[in-house]
Amino acid sequence: MAKSIPEPFRIKMVEPLKTTTREYREAALRRAGLNPFLIRAEDVFIDLLTDSGTGAMSDQQWSALMRGDESYAGSKSFHRLSDTVERLFNYPYTIPVHQGRGAEQILFPCLVERAIKRGATAPVFISNHHFDTTKAHVEFAGAQAKNLICKAALDTSKHDDWKGNFDLEALATAIEINGAEQVAAVVITITCNSVGGQPVSMHNIKSAASLARQHGIPVVIDAARFAENAYFVKQRDPDYRDKSLKDIVAETFAVADAFTMSAKKDGMVNIGGLCCFKQDEQLFQRVQRQCVPLEGFITYGGLAGRDMDAMAVGLEEACDEDHQRSRIAQVAYLGDRLQEAGIPIQTPVGGHAVFVDAGRIRPDIAPHHFPAQVICNALYLESGVRATEIGSLMMGRHPVTRQQEPALFELMRLTIPRRTYTNNHMDYVAESLINVVNRADRLRPLDFEYEPEVLRQFTARFKEI
Ligand code: F0G
Repeated sequence: MAKSIPEPFRIKMVEPLKTTTREYREAALRRAGLNPFLIRAEDVFIDLLTDSGTGAMSDQQWSALMRGDESYAGSKSFHRLSDTVERLFNYPYTIPVHQGRGAEQILFPCLVERAIKRGATAPVFISNHHFDTTKAHVEFAGAQAKNLICKAALDTSKHDDWKGNFDLEALATAIEINGAEQVAAVVITITCNSVGGQPVSMHNIKSAASLARQHGIPVVIDAARFAENAYFVKQRDPDYRDKSLKDIVAETFAVADAFTMSAKKDGMVNIGGLCCFKQDEQLFQRVQRQCVPLEGFITYGGLAGRDMDAMAVGLEEACDEDHQRSRIAQVAYLGDRLQEAGIPIQTPVGGHAVFVDAGRIRPDIAPHHFPAQVICNALYLESGVRATEIGSLMMGRHPVTRQQEPALFELMRLTIPRRTYTNNHMDYVAESLINVVNRADRLRPLDFEYEPEVLRQFTARFKEI
């Protein structure tokens, strides 16, 4: 059988991309305050900023849009979505939300409220790693976010199948030291975006959940890339080799009490999210009350009916093994091209992105001069490819001391939208980055010209020093 993995789709519609000159890009980046987030998308050739809401919908999803029922309350679209959630995850209580952070903003205050009722005085959320908006919502809810990622994740050069795993010993210790009553929830992020889109093993998911359960702590899955995680479980854990992705998904979600989901990733929609509950009807009803003023009525949560229909189809398509095989292979393809050229990346390559270790490319640039942002900017100037920093810039300052603490890594993320680019695009990205890295010693560190107080990566402006 042929070894190559062709895309399990053909292209029905194309969106032209604009090529630009280096001079053009220099002006565009200058206007953007040396922050790729502030560049106009039309000035980007290949956009690897994020895989969030940027993928291509299928013909089935586009058809589903036409079925959208725009009734304010109890639409058919909502019921098709909640039936799909029940079928795939076995969660009977669904709240649609406008995107992942919508779920976080309605759920987390309720979890904190509950922890306080049970005696918490300094509530914490413990995760393998909180995504940045997730951490922001933990803090808005008046709690602290602790990340307990396994040590294997910290060495990008070392291969480990499960770099998204919790450090289980640290989890047990953290529960003991904080006191179980302080822990508002254990949040299992699958795959773990912040350390490289790395999978969490089924064993680790079950162990973390069971530790939490022993102490009466609610377990929440951050499910943005749930199907990619299931695919890695099938690939890497011999016990799951013969299981379907849907079986693995069901087994994963059986151990949690609730999940939040940005459906803009594996849900394969341009906008949408979910906040769902397995059994806890009381918590579901409390969160529904929170939903109405913040997201919208409980059966649309900020979405059009058609968005919910497209999401219902997207969730099913995410569990298609042919889709995942081709998706994960494309990300690995880019990773392999870079590794062959000696570029340091988080290995093995994760689910949605290749994470380039800028801290190893320019170890002399201090974390607070943002080595990964330096490489992102150079890549844009070289090629029109837009990537994003996942490092000290994104991590931000300590919420209390306001100190800039070094992040675990200084990564540049080349994030691959689903079903959107071809491997020719990946070749171009790899060649361009290789050129940048070969001349990386000439790049200048960055400092703030304008530093927003929170989530500063999005609107900060920089100068070279
Ligand atoms: N959780 C994880 C693991 C995420 O990666 C994201 C978003 C969210 C929650 C929030 O979801 O954007 O729909 O509100 N990640 C995007 C990214 C933005 O680029 O990685 P959202």
